[in-house]
Amino acid sequence: MVETRIIDGKAFAENLRKRVASDVTAFHAATGVTPGLAVVLVGEDPASSVYVRNKGKQTVEAGMASIEHKLPATTSQAELLALIATLNTEKEVHGILVQLPLPAHIDAQAVLSTIDPAKDVDGFHVVNAGRLTVGLDALVPCTPLGCVMLLKDQLGSLAGLEAVVVGRSNIVGKPLAQLLLREDCTVTVAHSRTRDLPEVCRRADILIGAVGRPEMIRGDWIKPGATVIDVGINRVTLADGKHRLVGDVAFEEAQGIAGAITPVPGGVGPMTIACLLANTLTAAKRQVEA
Ligand code: GUN
Repeated sequence: MVETRIIDGKAFAENLRKRVASDVTAFHAATGVTPGLAVVLVGEDPASSVYVRNKGKQTVEAGMASIEHKLPATTSQAELLALIATLNTEKEVHGILVQLPLPAHIDAQAVLSTIDPAKDVDGFHVVNAGRLTVGLDALVPCTPLGCVMLLKDQLGSLAGLEAVVVGRSNIVGKPLAQLLLREDCTVTVAHSRTRDLPEVCRRADILIGAVGRPEMIRGDWIKPGATVIDVGINRVTLADGKHRLVGDVAFEEAQGIAGAITPVPGGVGPMTIACLLANTLTAAKRQVEA
C-alpha cells in the first residue's frame, strides 16, 4: 500500500499566475504594451458565466486588460463572425477566446476558424492544432498544457513513460496526446469504443481521465504507483438532493493505489485559467515582436 500524494493544482496555479503577472510587468516596462484578452460569451449558460467572470477577474489581477463581449443567445452566426473579424484587427486585443459551448444554431468550428491563429489563446484553430502536431511553436490548449505542467512538476522527465489518455476530445484528449508525445511518452488514446478499457488503463504510468463521466475510472484500473490526472468536473446529485463535484476517477478508491492524484475540485481546474493568462502573454509577445 503506497501513500497517495494529492497534487495541489490550486497552489501551482497561484504560483503560475504570480509568475505571469511579474512577466507582464517586465513586458510592459520594456514595450509599453499591456496584453489584452477579449472573451466572447453568447447566451447565459450559468457555468459559462461563472468561468467568464473568473477569467476576467484573474486577467485584471495579472495586470492585463480584459475586454468582455456578452451577446444574447439569439445572436446570429454572421454577427458573431463580424465581431471576431473586428477583434482580429484591434491592436490592443492580443488574445481572443470564444466561450464554448455555443448555442446550437451556431457552427462552433466556423467560429473558431475565423479567429486569427496568432490571437487564438485557446489553441483550438486548426492551424494551431496542426502546428502542435508537427512540432512547431503553437498556442496550445490551456487544460492539456496545465496537465503536462503538473506532470513534469511531479515526475521530472516523462520520457519513456506509458501514458493512457481516456477521452479523445479536441479540447483535451487529442491535444494532450500530442503534448505527451512531445515529452517522449508512449501514448495511448482510449475512448468509449476501446476494448477492455480497465486493462488498457492498468498499463499506464500516467493515467488521464478526460471523458466527463463521473467516477468512471475505478481504483482497480490504476497501476500501483501511477500518477493520475483527473480532468473531469462532473456535478452529481446526492441522495439528499445536494450537489457535489466529482471527477472522472473514483478518488477514494485511488487512495493507497495511485502514487499521486489530482483532486476535484482543486486539481486541474485552476490550471486552465492560469495557462490562459500565460498563453495571452505569449501571444502578446509574439505580436509585438512580429
Ligand atoms: N468551455 C469549457 N472549457 C473551455 C475552454 O477551455 N475554452 C473555451 N473557449 N470554452 C470552454
